[in-house]
Amino acid sequence: MSTPLAELHMHIEGSLEPELIFALAERNKVELPYRDLDDLRGRYEFSDLQSFLDLYFANMAVLRTEQDFADLARAYFARAAAGGVGHAEIFFNPQAHTARGVPLRAVLDGLGDAVRASAAEFGLTSDLIVAVLRDRPAEEGMAMLDELLGLDVPVLGIGLDSAEVGNPPSLFEDVFARARANGLRAVAHAGEEGPPEYIRQALDVLKVERVDHGVRCLEDAELVARLVEEQIPLTVCPLSNVRLRVVDTLADHPLRTMLDAGLLVTVNSDDPAYFGGYVDDNFARLQAELGLTAEERETLARNSIRASFASQERKAALL
Ligand code: ADE
Ligand code: ZN
Repeated sequence: MSTPLAELHMHIEGSLEPELIFALAERNKVELPYRDLDDLRGRYEFSDLQSFLDLYFANMAVLRTEQDFADLARAYFARAAAGGVGHAEIFFNPQAHTARGVPLRAVLDGLGDAVRASAAEFGLTSDLIVAVLRDRPAEEGMAMLDELLGLDVPVLGIGLDSAEVGNPPSLFEDVFARARANGLRAVAHAGEEGPPEYIRQALDVLKVERVDHGVRCLEDAELVARLVEEQIPLTVCPLSNVRLRVVDTLADHPLRTMLDAGLLVTVNSDDPAYFGGYVDDNFARLQAELGLTAEERETLARNSIRASFASQERKAALL
């Protein structure tokens, strides 16, 4: 039996499948700018991160009620569990919903219901990571964090996502300091499209415990040595990197180089509905196109559990 996986880098809004977009549009009487499923699917062709983000945010228009968020997360947990995921730490983007008039409470109650149910229903434990939009002002992120802390809801951590280049981690120093002071675990996207310097800032200014993506660390040998020495987990997303043109093909992906360098690498799906598959699909494609071995898969699975924020008891049960 292979070791279960912990998925540590997945945006729940990025698991919104085309079929669910159409179903929720009908339920909520939202008019979609697509003729049909094929028309929508035909738009899943991206030239960079921003071209994906434009569609990702546009499609969120169908998410309106607590039930919508519960249905979205339940669908992800069911699919992830079927793919061998035993624990998941999932991002959500409150600002993208409150800006459309959806109450933060509805988002959290819906996601929270699905998180609680998934342990019993699928044997999959999970936690929520609130992700701050880095292309919005830090003040807006701080206001969102304040509201969230006031709700007294179970959120495990804080992350930083959206358009990276030109929006360095250092802009969010105060937001992360406040989140950490309130017990949230800190992670941040860095080194996806942005330079190695953003990875350094995430570590030194935001004081993150994990780096999301981080693939561009390879351009800086000193940084790689530090990440190896401190065993900072990097949540790498191979299919995402191909679809957003961070790398040319899966066969060119630096995953093995990273593993061989001694980096604490994990494999994740990022936005599975948009990038051609869930975490098990990432592994299947890596096996086929990068020649990933069963032993490497086991190392990556063990890394994911080690890099998770699950309790020691839960980690021991998964390993
Ligand atoms: N939001 C959703 N997916 C993302 C990614 N790959 N990078 C930055 N922000 C994101
Ligand atoms: Zn991401």
